Amino acid sequence: MGRIISLVSGKGGVGKTTITANLGIALAKRNLKVCLIDADVAMANLSLLLNMQSSPITLHDVLLGESNILDAIYDGPHGIKFIPSGLSLESYRRVDTERLATLIESIANQFDFILLDAPAGIEKNVMAAMHASDEVLLITMPTSPAVADVLKAKLVAQRIGIRTTGVIINFFRGEKGEITKDDIMKMLELPVFGIIPFDDEVRKSFMQQKVAPVMLRKPKSSAAVAIQKTAAKLAGIPTHFKEKKKEGFLSRILSKLFGKKKKPEEQVRK
Ligand SMILES: Nc1ncnc2c1ncn2[C@@H]1O[C@H](COP(=O)(O)OP(=O)(O)O)[C@@H](O)[C@H]1O
Ligand SMILES: [Mg+2]
Repeated sequence: MGRIISLVSGKGGVGKTTITANLGIALAKRNLKVCLIDADVAMANLSLLLNMQSSPITLHDVLLGESNILDAIYDGPHGIKFIPSGLSLESYRRVDTERLATLIESIANQFDFILLDAPAGIEKNVMAAMHASDEVLLITMPTSPAVADVLKAKLVAQRIGIRTTGVIINFFRGEKGEITKDDIMKMLELPVFGIIPFDDEVRKSFMQQKVAPVMLRKPKSSAAVAIQKTAAKLAGIPTHFKEKKKEGFLSRILSKLFGKKKKPEEQVRK
């Protein structure tokens, strides 16, 4: 039985869809069997990011009882499987997410990880995504409104009896005024699984001729490297990325003199 994890944030625009796609690809790169589900039945974005928006059978059809879930599973990059949500407003109006848990349970033994990209907020469809999961992974930004909202999401998960396993901090800039990792850990009483820096390469995912997640376009970019570390931590696999070492006096002078280029994985801020 695979781990079924919903990615939830409360607040919108913090990177749930981005992290679902890239984390899924990172896990698949580790030879894990991954299925991504766009559980954001109203604002389906995951298929756009994966460039798979023309899939004819969607989660809407399955939830409406008009198609079998097995017919809504598509092949994505690096062997991931993907269940898209429908894009039509008309079918969204009729969709009821109550059966989501039973449907996902029916395919759980085929995968190591099933990641659900949940909607923003803490309403019915978010709770349905949580309810369909074994674990909730919280996504936040290091700002007070985002942390306040993600705390509410954690409390909702607690209320419906789904375990929150950890938090991912996205859009990290290391600027003065940001809420620190330690404060986020204290406020949420959860471990931090990953810190994803703000990275223009992520933003550019939609700006290319061919839309693609940063993990495919720029796997060495700072965000992609951070997501690969997060994936390894989530899966309990030792990471091969070197932690940034404190530079000694001599190497600082040498790098100033000779302009030693830092490896991309060393540029990820902690
Ligand atoms: N680490 C990051 N650095 C820069 N831009 C990011 C980062 N994470 C997400 N984004 C951008 O922020 C926007 C919102 O992200 P998205 O994943 O759609 O959030 P959500 O699903 O939570 O609404 C997108 O344009 C995305 O490209
Ligand atoms: Mg989204």
